[in-house]
Amino acid sequence: MDPKEMHQKIRDLTRERRAVILAHNYQRPEVQDVADMTGDSLGLSIQAGRTPAEVIVFCGVHFMAETASIICPDKTVLLPRMDAGCPMADTITAESLKRRKAELPGVPVVTYVNSPAEVKAESDICCTSANAVSVVQSLPEPRVLMTPDKNLAQYTARRVTKEILLWEGQCNIHDRLTRDRVLKAKAEHPHAVLVAHPECRPEVLDLADAIRSTTGMLAYVKESDAKEFLIATENGLLYPLRNQNPGKAIYEVSHEMVCPNMKLTRLGDVLSALETMAPVVKVSEDIRVKALKAVTRMLDVKRD
Ligand code: 13P
Ligand code: SF4
Repeated sequence: MDPKEMHQKIRDLTRERRAVILAHNYQRPEVQDVADMTGDSLGLSIQAGRTPAEVIVFCGVHFMAETASIICPDKTVLLPRMDAGCPMADTITAESLKRRKAELPGVPVVTYVNSPAEVKAESDICCTSANAVSVVQSLPEPRVLMTPDKNLAQYTARRVTKEILLWEGQCNIHDRLTRDRVLKAKAEHPHAVLVAHPECRPEVLDLADAIRSTTGMLAYVKESDAKEFLIATENGLLYPLRNQNPGKAIYEVSHEMVCPNMKLTRLGDVLSALETMAPVVKVSEDIRVKALKAVTRMLDVKRD
């Protein structure tokens, strides 16, 4: 089947199934194009909570579909590729977090949504890259444990008046970006504004003109008067950035910034998910109820 035909079939089936397709900003161009909504982790969580659809097809990675299942227990949540995981989310388990909590009585746990549902269930509040500073500031305690991304935690620590304890996790895609690589890219594009994701290392963020979530980057580039941008995040974001800013030059900072998990989902997988109504992601009710508290508490906090 050619891609155009497949796109149309997916749209027809989406209507028939009363479904909505949500796609993360890192997804393949053709998957972003077939989606009803694209966005960052926070935006997609909010959309999952608001949609009147009965079925959510989540084009992203496993923790994102789990978050949709936590927020919408009555909807069927499909993850077209069940093998689309997140190595950062895999750096923490409920058991390892419980052990750390036992060493830190009275210290609240802020958990990045890039984490398993069981870990959210053991956390006081969740955060995303779009609201980490506001989430931490919303807590009354002076010391906070942030999991699992140490880079997001260090970024937050520099912007809050609290002591932040780290978890040794990171996104291998963002963390592989070095200061030297960024300096080289800046030398190649001396007039470009550098926009970076907070999952990058602190020494990379030190070179950035702006630090944002993926949707925050889209808004920043759109609103900026500058004409050239260097983008320090997963390269899937270049597609919507270029689409939305035809008069601006958008450069990747490194061709190595590609998340294989985010690239697994293809149009054929989306079509197959809608045809077979599988694979389904469903969080068990005991975990869901506890995780929902941490997610809902986060959704009450504004974006940074
Ligand atoms: P955001 O789109 O929320 O900034 O997340 C980045 C990410 O790594 C998702 O996997
Ligand atoms: Fe996980 Fe990083 Fe891929 Fe996002 S980009 S899904 S944090 S590995």
